[in-house]
Amino acid sequence: MKKSPLEVIRAQYEPKLPVSLRGGVVVTEGRTTTSADNQKEIKGLFPNTYGMPIVRFECGQFKTYRQKNVGVILSGGQAPGGHNVMSGLFDSMKKLNPDSRLYGFIGGPSGLVDHKYVELTAEVIDEYRNTGGFDIIGSGRTKLEETSQFDRAIEICKALDIKAIVIIGGDDSNTNACVLAEYFLQKNAGIQVIGCPKTIDGDLKNEMIETSFGFDTACKVYSELIGNIQRDANSAKKYWHFIRLMGRSASHITLECALQTQPNMCIVSEEVAAKNMTLSDIVDNIVSMVVVRANHGLNFGTILVPEGLIEFVPAAKKLIAELNDLLAANEEFNLLTKDEDKRRYVKSKLTKESANTFVDLPKSIARQLMSDRDPHGNIQVSLIETEKLLIEMVAKRLAKLKSEGVYKGKFATINHFFGYEGRCAIPSNFDADYCYSLGYTAAVLIAEGKSGYMANIRNLSAPAEEWIAGGVPITMMMNIERRHGEMKPVIRKALVKLDGAPFKYYVAHREEWSNSSVSYAYPGPIQYFGPSELCDQTTMTLKLENVGHL
Ligand code: FBP
Repeated sequence: MKKSPLEVIRAQYEPKLPVSLRGGVVVTEGRTTTSADNQKEIKGLFPNTYGMPIVRFECGQFKTYRQKNVGVILSGGQAPGGHNVMSGLFDSMKKLNPDSRLYGFIGGPSGLVDHKYVELTAEVIDEYRNTGGFDIIGSGRTKLEETSQFDRAIEICKALDIKAIVIIGGDDSNTNACVLAEYFLQKNAGIQVIGCPKTIDGDLKNEMIETSFGFDTACKVYSELIGNIQRDANSAKKYWHFIRLMGRSASHITLECALQTQPNMCIVSEEVAAKNMTLSDIVDNIVSMVVVRANHGLNFGTILVPEGLIEFVPAAKKLIAELNDLLAANEEFNLLTKDEDKRRYVKSKLTKESANTFVDLPKSIARQLMSDRDPHGNIQVSLIETEKLLIEMVAKRLAKLKSEGVYKGKFATINHFFGYEGRCAIPSNFDADYCYSLGYTAAVLIAEGKSGYMANIRNLSAPAEEWIAGGVPITMMMNIERRHGEMKPVIRKALVKLDGAPFKYYVAHREEWSNSSVSYAYPGPIQYFGPSELCDQTTMTLKLENVGHL
């Protein structure tokens, strides 16, 4: 593989580990756990993995463990640091027993079912240390839900003498990990399953998981780009930039980028829902700001838009929920090929209120809302161009105000969508260290015989040596939600908390940021070498949530 000069030097970076993982480890068990909600149902569905205690690692005597081969899967969207989870897992496994082998299943969960794998030797792992991407074995979004898939998994594990599987994924993939762990225990298959919290979206977090890996690096990449755009906007003074950011339903990425760059406006979907705002209310807010700035001669600005916004506008949310149920395995609909026929069919099946919302949408957005769901039943919000919809609506409103003589400014716009730009970036020091520690932790959980746990590292705002490593039962994070038209056990998604410190910080500053151009902040690129206060800083979200101030 051709390496860039940065990759060559970065390969030598030694990720920092918490003190408790550096030598021998003793495992202490904490309190037993209950699920996030629907306790009776979750307990019934997961009799073998429900109620297990939280475990924590502390420094102890070094001991070797029995040899255990492990299989690893990268699941879902890419996130910076995945390769370091693998290298941490590999190094820790070899330290605990040099005869243990690591196998990677190719292309995500489907690799386990289709028996596509590769052995990850030291040579392979060394090629990928501290690099971005998931290309070491690839990723995929296949949902593991059929017992026939689980039985295929048992077959390949028996053939390779694999005693544990590590699933590196987001909320849905870790839900799969828990289902698999439960099945293997029920069948006495002798295969453990451990999850690792991955997703740039930052929505896999709770009282025990402070953040998912990849969020830090991705937000830093997007913030660099937004900062550069703001400097351009403030230099040329002629464009309004509408910047949509990935993140699925939750607005964590958008909010974090706003904290880092201080744009003129940051829309937070969770606030839109809480205030029951319509699309028209959002447009009103933008129009007021554009008019005020134009009165001060500022015909430019930046607006951050979360990719899941449309799902949070109450009428659109109702429409999407109806569409999700209607389109789940709908053969009649799937036979239709023309957009027009699809629109007519959908309209005829919706409630009156949702049909009205549906027909009012521009055709391009209606088409995007009808497009395929992912295998977990999620609407593919990355394909919905909300920023263009907003631009269209704002421009219409401003044209009217102009004709009435109320608005005299210019409204030239540029739209952006940032997502794929950050998902495979070279991991920041934080993500490189965090991921390596997660992999290390997963190997210890396996050696200790745990299954149905997610590796967890806490105290993440402190220097890495003070981080606390251990494991949390996945059932602890679960509740029952509607998916694909059915009620299913899933890990509860963490949305932005409106009473949380990051959002409150934004609210305290948004007035000032909206009117000014001198408040723009320009974070610049991720720094991999240099003073710790520049290179090891994590996100403002984590700092505000853990420490309470910046
Ligand atoms: P995960 O939830 O699997 O981590 O994926 C995150 C994400 O990047 C979302 O932000 C985005 O909506 C989605 O993946 C895009 O999916 P795809 O990679 O299939 O285009």
